Amino acid sequence: MSTVSEPIFREEAVRALLAWYAQSKRDLPWRRTRDPYRIWISEIMLQQTRVEAVKPYYERFLTACPTVKALADLPEEQLLKLWEGLGYYSRARNLQKAARSVLAEHNGVMPSDYEGLLSLPGIGEYTAGAIASIAYDVRVPAVDGNVLRVLSRFLALRKDVTRPEVKAELRASLCQVVPPEAGDFTQSLIELGATVCLPKGAPRCEGCPLRMYCRGAALGIAEELPVKGAKKPRRIEERTVLLLRDGDRTVLRRRPPKGLLAGLFELPHVPGHVEKEEIPALVRALGLEPLHVERLEDAKHVFSHVEWHMIAYAVRISPEFDGWPSESELLIVPNGALHAEYAIPSAFAAYKKLL
Ligand code: ADE
Repeated sequence: MSTVSEPIFREEAVRALLAWYAQSKRDLPWRRTRDPYRIWISEIMLQQTRVEAVKPYYERFLTACPTVKALADLPEEQLLKLWEGLGYYSRARNLQKAARSVLAEHNGVMPSDYEGLLSLPGIGEYTAGAIASIAYDVRVPAVDGNVLRVLSRFLALRKDVTRPEVKAELRASLCQVVPPEAGDFTQSLIELGATVCLPKGAPRCEGCPLRMYCRGAALGIAEELPVKGAKKPRRIEERTVLLLRDGDRTVLRRRPPKGLLAGLFELPHVPGHVEKEEIPALVRALGLEPLHVERLEDAKHVFSHVEWHMIAYAVRISPEFDGWPSESELLIVPNGALHAEYAIPSAFAAYKKLL
């Protein structure tokens, strides 16, 4: 087995990788700019979301918020609406916190050094490395899960890459070989992981610029790597979701300001799976008069650490209801405004499409 105490790539391999990238790279919107702000937004969006899904969000976000200042000044509800459907909403909140910090502490200019970037909310080692290298060609690497896969195969490394010390070791040896074209180097590793050295099953070694240097390919074990420790199983939570509507309005609830999906709007729901007969009493307890209850299809939503297993009821309510006081977490909103104004997370997608 290899050790990683020496530089990972020989100069020759770095050149082969860069030449391949120049020829084969995908034309992506964030590859047409060196603007650190735009690169930052793209890297945050790409952290947990696929390239194709990110593209329209990226364009929309930058049209609404073209500068650090515009992002810092954006009302929270608009920010969450721009992020609606992307998930992991703390990413959006941290973007705004960091934008405010760039204004307050860096004269409105994104830091150009790795440490300065790392000090901003929501920017960890990977993102700081990605922005510094891609926007400024600072010679630092950016190591995410995809790059770890490429490196573990390249070295035929059987250590568990989810362990922080293994990642740190790989990062340290990559640091030694980042060339002056640091941005292209970062993106070439990302690109290789996305288009050649694929996860889950067969890597496309026949198209790989590193094949002749790759120990995993030479030993025929690339497909078995990387080794990853067993993940903790997700917690399962049962929920009963209520679609409460009169003819023209729908009931929403604002989620608490902290925790999962903080501050977003949701369909009211209660823990557990509640029987149909118990629904009218539940609805009356909210101050509403139920007229008709109908069971809807079940749905499931998978978060990173939790799964929601949902059952749901559509409840027709009496229109003679004036609403709750404004400080209440519940609100009743005109159906016309529902999709345009309220950010409702994808966890409710199965029911949102019925609204
Ligand atoms: N995933 C993370 N960063 C990326 C980038 N710059 N291009 C494509 N996919 C990415």
